[in-house]
Amino acid sequence: MNSPYNYIMLSKYFSDTCVVADAGGKIAGYISAFHPPANPEVLFIWQVAVDEAYRRRKLGIAMLKHLLERESCRQVRFYEITVTPSNKAADSLYRKFAKGLGVPCEISECFSARLFPGRQHEDEMLYRIGPFPK
Ligand SMILES: CC(C)(COP(=O)(O)OP(=O)(O)OC[C@H]1O[C@@H](n2cnc3c(N)ncnc32)[C@H](O)[C@@H]1OP(=O)(O)O)[C@@H](O)C(=O)NCCC(=O)NCCS
Repeated sequence: MNSPYNYIMLSKYFSDTCVVADAGGKIAGYISAFHPPANPEVLFIWQVAVDEAYRRRKLGIAMLKHLLERESCRQVRFYEITVTPSNKAADSLYRKFAKGLGVPCEISECFSARLFPGRQHEDEMLYRIGPFPK
């Protein structure tokens, strides 16, 4: 969970690339994402979150697939996402998503722990998934 301001701001200004999974008026899942301005072929996914009550039902995978079908993502060939090494669920989710589509998932360092104040943040590893077929 990050600042509520971030979620509201992303949902307003990047609604074409954000997802809300609605389960009868309750939010079951959410993705926030945007195209880096210099590279519309990339979709940077800031967060995928599924309510605990809805986990392990393939909702995370379904939302990731849904985004690729949007008109706003027609040009997207790669997903870029950062993941901390301790987040095994996220690591497994993105590897499984890539494997299901038959595309590579390349992992490299993105934001080193040194960049974060207070030494309270892990490294953020970059997961680059794609290229998706045109
Ligand atoms: C990560 C998260 C989004 C997964 O959502 P989900 O809807 O439960 O995921 P899915 O059901 O689509 O799972 C697909 C695959 O991801 C992997 N996975 C999901 N949750 C996992 C867990 N807790 N432990 C290990 N692997 C996991 C599995 O490989 C799973 O396939 P399987 O169920 O056939 O084994 C969810 O656990 C979550 O919201 N976590 C907190 C927020 C977060 O860390 N987000 C990611 C970083 S941005």
